[in-house]
Amino acid sequence: MYIILLGAPGSGKGTVAKMIEGKFGVPHLSTGDILRDNVNKGTCVGNQAKEYMDNGKLVPDDIVIQMVKGRVLEEDCKTGFILDGFPRTIKQAEALELIFDELDITIDAIFNFEASQETIIERLSGRRTCKNCGAIYHIKNIPPKVEDECDKCGDRLYQRDDDKKDVVKNRLVVYKTQTKKLISYYEKQDSFYKIDANKKAGEMFVEVCKDLGQSGKSG
Ligand code: AP5
Repeated sequence: MYIILLGAPGSGKGTVAKMIEGKFGVPHLSTGDILRDNVNKGTCVGNQAKEYMDNGKLVPDDIVIQMVKGRVLEEDCKTGFILDGFPRTIKQAEALELIFDELDITIDAIFNFEASQETIIERLSGRRTCKNCGAIYHIKNIPPKVEDECDKCGDRLYQRDDDKKDVVKNRLVVYKTQTKKLISYYEKQDSFYKIDANKKAGEMFVEVCKDLGQSGKSG
């Protein structure tokens, strides 16, 4: 199963991607997570990406495209993957088409998560992420059982640096000026679906499963 998730920062892509991963057993490939991991490890890609990410700007296409090309060739991607945060520019979408052609992959679904500005700001300001396993929480909407502690692995939760007010503002401008164009790039395809991302995470997941022709019970 091959899925692309589009949508503004904070629209719930990562949250629903983890639910799809749990039910269908295909890996969640978040370019944001892969980049953050590279930054934390101080790799060459991480060092190149850090300043862009700190300022809410897009990391240059060539860096991200190479990174994704390498990742989709790994063993766990053989039967499918969920792309979250890629593509983000027309150049990345064109590169992805070439990758799919080379690997003879047909995309099953492209979901565009549509959320209001108020929803986005509220979600980003309350997001907490597990340092160890990447599980995503929200201090009000999806709180952990114990404050600042991951339900799944018990590690500490943290607030992403790019969820601070000024950086969020930049990320939303970047989304509107560069990434939103992808909707018109993809919307004519039969496999393009709109998801009302103002709904609860479980409701979004049910919608996604329905579009995939599956029941929405978690796996
Ligand atoms: P990235 O990590 O991809 O961030 P993003 O796209 O801005 O997306 P987010 O992770 O902020 O939001 P999300 O939609 O996944 O929401 P989530 O599920 O967490 O990118 C970060 C940076 O990396 C970029 O700025 C850029 O610099 C770089 N980068 C990444 N990819 C790149 C690329 N392809 N090209 C160039 N640069 C790239 O949910 C948010 C919060 O809301 C959580 O707290 C969650 O618990 C809560 N929540 C989620 N859904 C619901 C719901 N339905 N109801 C209530 N609460 C909810």
